[in-house]
Amino acid sequence: MVLSSHQYEVIRRKVRAELGIELGPDRKAMVSRRLGGIPEGPQLVSSMMAGDLAPPSLALLADVLTTNHTHWGRESAHFDVLIQWIDEQPASRALRIWCAASSTGEEPYTLWMACQDTERSGRGISLLATDISRPVLEHARKGIYEAEATTRLSAKWQRHFRPLPDGLVTVPEAAKRAILFRRLNLMTNPLPFRNQFDVIFCRNVLIYFDGDLRRQIIQRVVDQLRPGGLLCIGLAESLPKEVTGLSRLSPSAFLRSP
Ligand SMILES: C[S@@+](CC[C@H](N)C(=O)[O-])C[C@H]1O[C@@H](n2cnc3c(N)ncnc32)[C@H](O)[C@@H]1O
Repeated sequence: MVLSSHQYEVIRRKVRAELGIELGPDRKAMVSRRLGGIPEGPQLVSSMMAGDLAPPSLALLADVLTTNHTHWGRESAHFDVLIQWIDEQPASRALRIWCAASSTGEEPYTLWMACQDTERSGRGISLLATDISRPVLEHARKGIYEAEATTRLSAKWQRHFRPLPDGLVTVPEAAKRAILFRRLNLMTNPLPFRNQFDVIFCRNVLIYFDGDLRRQIIQRVVDQLRPGGLLCIGLAESLPKEVTGLSRLSPSAFLRSP
């Protein structure tokens, strides 16, 4: 599919308004390729040009245009910070953890493994993993990965996987049961939670948002954290200076001010 400059501009604006994602002018070829790669692509473009993109089409747009790169062992220092933070919490306290852009599941399953290494060994800890893209959530729910890719993890954590044929491994059933995977657009305002979280991992997604939108999104995420709670963002990401209510604990890790 070859998009005209006008079509690309309309798509760019729509994607920014609905998904928060800032597509630079250099992404036109990528967007053309991805929309051209699905049967619904031409219809999606026509709907956007006509200004009547229905919610299912919007979901499809998110499935196609998001970048879902992740890997096992990514920015692993945060998991050490998490383990130490959990072990400092009163044992009686139930902990709620939210992984806010969980992609294909490597990050939330690593959160689960880290929790197994705490004095609580996963007891009294609930894990929610959300992403806007349905295919990555589907992949995450299945919990099947290339064995080779898991070798980035410590030997201790590699022992959690069960081997499957064809060079694949699967995460433990207990991990699949422990994590609730849900679709959530971080643009949702207000975010749909009744109770605050003790820990939020929101890593390597802020980079896709720009300017004031980025500030608004991260502030809404921060507001979901209870006082004293732990927030981790990507190591290459920074918080806009206007975001309030946090103190820095270590690189890209913050505590919510009391
Ligand atoms: C680069 S991946 C990062 C995955 C993981 N957090 C990590 O650090 O490896 C970014 C993820 O953010 C998701 N994402 C992008 N825009 C989003 C939005 N508006 N709401 C929720 N998730 C979004 C993408 O689908 C993708 O899976």
